[in-house]
Amino acid sequence: MEIGWMHNPRKRQVLVFFVLLSMYGASAELGPYSVVEETERGSFVANVGKDLGLGLTEMSTRGARIISQWNKEHLQLKVQTGDLLINDKLDREKLCGPSEPCILHFQVLMEKPLEIFQAELRVKDINDHSPVFTEREMFLKIPENSPIGISFPLSNALDLDVGSNNVQNYKISPNSHFRVLTQNRSDGRKYPELVLDKELDREEEPEISLTLTALDGGSPPRYGTAQVRIEVVDINDNAPEFEQSLYKVHIPEDSPVDSLVVTVSASDVDSGVYGKISYAFFQPSEDISKTLEVNPMTGEIRLRKKVDFETVLSYEVDIKATDGGGLSGKCTLLLQVVDVNDNPPEVTVSALTTPIPENSPDIVVAVFSVSDPDSGDNGKTISSIQDDLPFLLKPSVKNFYTLVTQKTLDREERAEYNITITVTDMGTPRLKTEHNITVLVSDVNDNAPAFTQTSYTLSVRENNSPALHIGSVRATDRDAGANAQVTYSLLPPLDAHVPLGSLVSINPDNGHLFALRSLDYEALRAFEFRVGAADRGSPALSSQALVRVLVVDDNDNAPFVLYPLQNASAPCTELVPRAAEAGYLVTKVVAVDGDSGQNAWLSYQLLKATEPGLFGVWAHNGEVRTARLLSERDAAKHRLLVLVKDNGEPPLSASVTLHVLLVDGFSQPYLPAPEAEAADAAPAAPLTVYLVVALASVSSLFVFSVLVFVAVRLCRRGGAASVGRCSVPEGHFPGHLVDVSGTGTLSQSYQYEVCLTGGSESNEFKFLKPILPNLPPQCPGKEIEENRTFYNSFGFNIQ
Ligand SMILES: *[C@@H]1O[C@H](CO)[C@@H](O)[C@H](O)[C@H]1NC(C)=O
Ligand SMILES: *[C@@H]1O[C@H](CO)[C@@H](O)[C@H](O)[C@H]1NC(C)=O
Ligand SMILES: *[C@@H]1O[C@H](CO)[C@@H](O)[C@H](O)[C@H]1NC(C)=O
Ligand SMILES: *[C@@H]1O[C@H](CO)[C@@H](O)[C@H](O)[C@H]1NC(C)=O
Repeated sequence: MEIGWMHNPRKRQVLVFFVLLSMYGASAELGPYSVVEETERGSFVANVGKDLGLGLTEMSTRGARIISQWNKEHLQLKVQTGDLLINDKLDREKLCGPSEPCILHFQVLMEKPLEIFQAELRVKDINDHSPVFTEREMFLKIPENSPIGISFPLSNALDLDVGSNNVQNYKISPNSHFRVLTQNRSDGRKYPELVLDKELDREEEPEISLTLTALDGGSPPRYGTAQVRIEVVDINDNAPEFEQSLYKVHIPEDSPVDSLVVTVSASDVDSGVYGKISYAFFQPSEDISKTLEVNPMTGEIRLRKKVDFETVLSYEVDIKATDGGGLSGKCTLLLQVVDVNDNPPEVTVSALTTPIPENSPDIVVAVFSVSDPDSGDNGKTISSIQDDLPFLLKPSVKNFYTLVTQKTLDREERAEYNITITVTDMGTPRLKTEHNITVLVSDVNDNAPAFTQTSYTLSVRENNSPALHIGSVRATDRDAGANAQVTYSLLPPLDAHVPLGSLVSINPDNGHLFALRSLDYEALRAFEFRVGAADRGSPALSSQALVRVLVVDDNDNAPFVLYPLQNASAPCTELVPRAAEAGYLVTKVVAVDGDSGQNAWLSYQLLKATEPGLFGVWAHNGEVRTARLLSERDAAKHRLLVLVKDNGEPPLSASVTLHVLLVDGFSQPYLPAPEAEAADAAPAAPLTVYLVVALASVSSLFVFSVLVFVAVRLCRRGGAASVGRCSVPEGHFPGHLVDVSGTGTLSQSYQYEVCLTGGSESNEFKFLKPILPNLPPQCPGKEIEENRTFYNSFGFNIQ
């Protein structure tokens, strides 16, 4: 049979047959025949002639041929033999694809007579294809917490073969987690299903790679493989874990703020946010929150404020590390603060006694305690006070000390002590605290007032005004307060002779002394009295001192001429022989001065003379001497006016008139002067001289007193008797000087009448009149009478 028939003019015949076929329908059936695909060309399929029951040649004579709708002749008919042969290799997959069975329909046509036989050829599959996965790699994400038994469908493999030559089975490479199941699809195809046999752990095996093998049912089976890559998806199945469950850290208490304390570290094997850790304190106390801070990212723990060993010794806090999934782990931080010697010792004075009395032994002055909040040597202390103080530091119970006096104290020696209590600790560096206490010593009246001098001598000028402040005494008392308040007083005189009360007074407060009346040197040259000073202590202490008051003389007495007597009724006349040589002592003017000292130094001077140049007066002793030889030409009568002046300031003076008569030869004194008798009748005023004149020559008040005493006694014994007339002492030329002491001091004796005025208590005297031993008989003193007055006479020297 010719394959290319449809291309020749017999085409029209074919059309005719089809028409015929449709007219006759399927007249007979052939076959069925089958052939295995891929059978070589020319391979025998069947003998159609036999099957039709035709003879060998009949096929060709009847013009048998094959008709098909194929556009390719798969079969050829050997009309000579009636064999049906493969004309071309048959590929079942190409012909039928997945359809099964794969049947090719054809007809065997006989032209003479026209006969058509239906035939079919079944092409049988051979396993000529392997399973192929369209996806060579499959990716799966499987959460690690997936339950056992869960299955994951996988893509199936394709096999062009059909039937058992198609994919029959799947296998998975050996692994510990999965097996694979081969499942039927409704269309009969098989697909693999991955079944979880054992829990996954991403942290252990985050990725699993498997080889999936698809096997067909051929013999031997063909197979194809694909890679199954499984990513085990993390779930937050791991809590963060700290490297250490306990962090023990020591930190010195002087660490500055923001110091790094420690870095805690936790890890989380989970990935992603589940493995991302943040740190925080777990239920921190308020104190912890104020003291420490944790960096949530880094786990660094730093100081927020300074720590103080003395306040908080240690801190304990839990730290929580939380991952993004909310799982957390904990650790504990134990922070121990290390002591640094940052606290100076403290001194607390719990008792202080001040002031403390003097003169008392063993007084507890202060009780104090010492503390140092530091620990160890940093908290050990040594206490001391200054060495040079009379106090002792005595340790008492625990950290207490007492400060006691070492000896009795004397306020007058020292009334205040500044005591510095120095406390040092033994730390490094050493810290020191000083506490100052001031201890006062209170006074006890153990000192009497003391006068600044044991005796005072005051220079009070006489004739003072009454109530004159004449001086002061002063006493000091070393005690204090009332114990030192001094009151002054006059003490009663030991010797009742001095009528002190009328003379002075004392201001009790300040010791000022006042004269109560005007003092008279000539009456009282000195006196003594005692003053007392007493304090106001209890009992009071007192002391005394002697005050001697010397009355200083004032020039309040003018010189008084004793000789020659003035205002006498019969003035004396001195007789001078004309034959006298130059320097002949005519007479001597005798004067006294009630004052003393310079006020009583007298000087003499010739003020006027009848014949100047004839007589001279010796300035210092009042001697009147001739200045030259006398001659007959010189007048017989001369008058000399002599001025007696004291040396006071201002000077006081008196004058006296001398009468001199020149006589021839060495004759007896010539008497009387006529004018003396005239004056005889006139009553002479009593010559009254204050007794103080006597002081001019008597140096001692005492001697004076004795003299007065004697005089008074004599006055009383003599009653109201009058003094006798002048008497002339024998052996001396009147008025001549006598060396009485042998030391060259010339003295001259005079006698005075003295009388006590007033009562015997008053000590006031009146100087009445001199009794002149050299008074010539022609020059008598006036007889003096005085009622109620006692007279007597006594002698004293005037130098
Ligand atoms: C799939 O089909 C085959 C035959 O058709 C059968 O033997 C097998 O048990 C089936 N498998 C499943 C899982 O249904
Ligand atoms: C004690 O200290 C006070 C105050 O510093 C001071 O006035 C006083 O003079 C001091 N006394 C002594 C005895 O040092
Ligand atoms: C204590 O007294 C001493 C000596 O007077 C002085 O140097 C020191 O400053 C005082 N200390 C205090 C705390 O007053
Ligand atoms: C002498 O007498 C006169 C008057 O009688 C008198 O003024 C004078 O002071 C008297 N002189 C003396 C020294 O007594």
